[in-house]
Amino acid sequence: GIQLGNLLAKTGYITYDPGFVNTGSASSAITYIDGDAGVLRYRGYPIEQLAQRSSFLEVSYLLIYGDLPSKEQLSAFVERIQRHTLLHEDLKRFFDGFPRDAHPMPVLSSAVSALSTFYQDSLNPFDQTSVELSTIRLLAKVPTIAAYAYKKSIGQPFLYPDNSLGLVENYLRMTFGLPAEPYEVDPDIARALDQLFILHADHEQNCSTSTVRMVGSSEANLFASVSAGINALFGPLHGGANAAVLDMLADIKADGGDVGKFVERVKNKEAGVRLMGFGHRVYKNYDPRAKIIKKTADDILSKLGKNDELLDIAKKLEETALSDDYFIQRNLYPNVDFYTGLIYRALGFPTEYFTVLFALGRLPGWIAHWREMMTDPARKIGRPRQVYTGAPQREYTPLDQR
Ligand code: ACO
Repeated sequence: GIQLGNLLAKTGYITYDPGFVNTGSASSAITYIDGDAGVLRYRGYPIEQLAQRSSFLEVSYLLIYGDLPSKEQLSAFVERIQRHTLLHEDLKRFFDGFPRDAHPMPVLSSAVSALSTFYQDSLNPFDQTSVELSTIRLLAKVPTIAAYAYKKSIGQPFLYPDNSLGLVENYLRMTFGLPAEPYEVDPDIARALDQLFILHADHEQNCSTSTVRMVGSSEANLFASVSAGINALFGPLHGGANAAVLDMLADIKADGGDVGKFVERVKNKEAGVRLMGFGHRVYKNYDPRAKIIKKTADDILSKLGKNDELLDIAKKLEETALSDDYFIQRNLYPNVDFYTGLIYRALGFPTEYFTVLFALGRLPGWIAHWREMMTDPARKIGRPRQVYTGAPQREYTPLDQR
């Protein structure tokens, strides 16, 4: 395939494929998707088994290093991450410079980009020790940055990490805890969030991962590449969809809760009206992650005793869409984002923060892909071609003659 591609490029032929719907940009051994059958596997392990039996850090290890860790390997990995959760005090001061109402995604990507300036000893993309250190630093520090982005937005003081806690517990404490008060992490909530992170951990060549690979292909360091991935995830058609789902549900509620009326607007293709959380470039069947998340949403909401009217609207929407020809003909099923927002909301996260949670989950996938690409003998700088549609050659007219 690669040789044929190179040959065609030399002969001047170009594949025109807007949105890369049918272009294999990489060969990868990380994640397998069968979109027609609704199958997702990380390194060969079905997502359902990992979501039920594994943990987010174990899955991170699996994605990055290729195999499940032994007990010793996992505890060494976890310990190493725990030792790197602190942010440099000067990096903490960055948060002061952002407006208080700043969206947390650009705050997150800016702080991750700034890691390149603080940790200059781990920037060499070809040095194994350096890559290992930046991998650990990212996994350890991004949750701290994410928690501080939240604290900043509500004007509360930052909490230092408590490294006696697990990654998710520590993150929840830094996000919702207060300096003078003990914070008890509810194990069911920590487990639900850990599971959501597992379900988001990788999804092969999606927009943000392709961005990480594209930026990394110029041999930009891991922090710079991941920061670019976070910006790609910010868009409403990608990671921003989980927040857009909640906005949509709230709009339907405000409009009297008439699900059928909303579905008609979607079907009539009213400008800007899509059924958010439905449809996927690759899945033309039920997104396997959505099935797991739907149950978690039910469990968490009933545990917290939250009777969320928006959950009822979501269920009605799903039911209506799944029995409607418009959606059936186009193979539009709920995707991972359809129910996640409801869980995040029940846990107390504000809507605009949801995409940050997606970024926390996707982080090991980005790292795994960057590392895989950097060690791929077929690696080339990403440089697509184009089909030029502009003016033919023209002669320059001086300004006074125009
Ligand atoms: N609501 C209504 N119609 C839809 C939707 C939707 N959510 N998604 C696709 N369609 C329709 C399109 O209008 C199009 O119809 P047509 O053939 O009559 O023109 C057809 O289905 C095909 O849609 P495309 O836009 O070509 O599909 P594509 O693969 O490019 O888009 C995408 C995939 C962006 C996810 C799309 O389904 C969408 O916008 N969904 C809503 C946003 C969303 O939930 N994004 C999250 C994606 S998952 C993730 O990032 C984790």
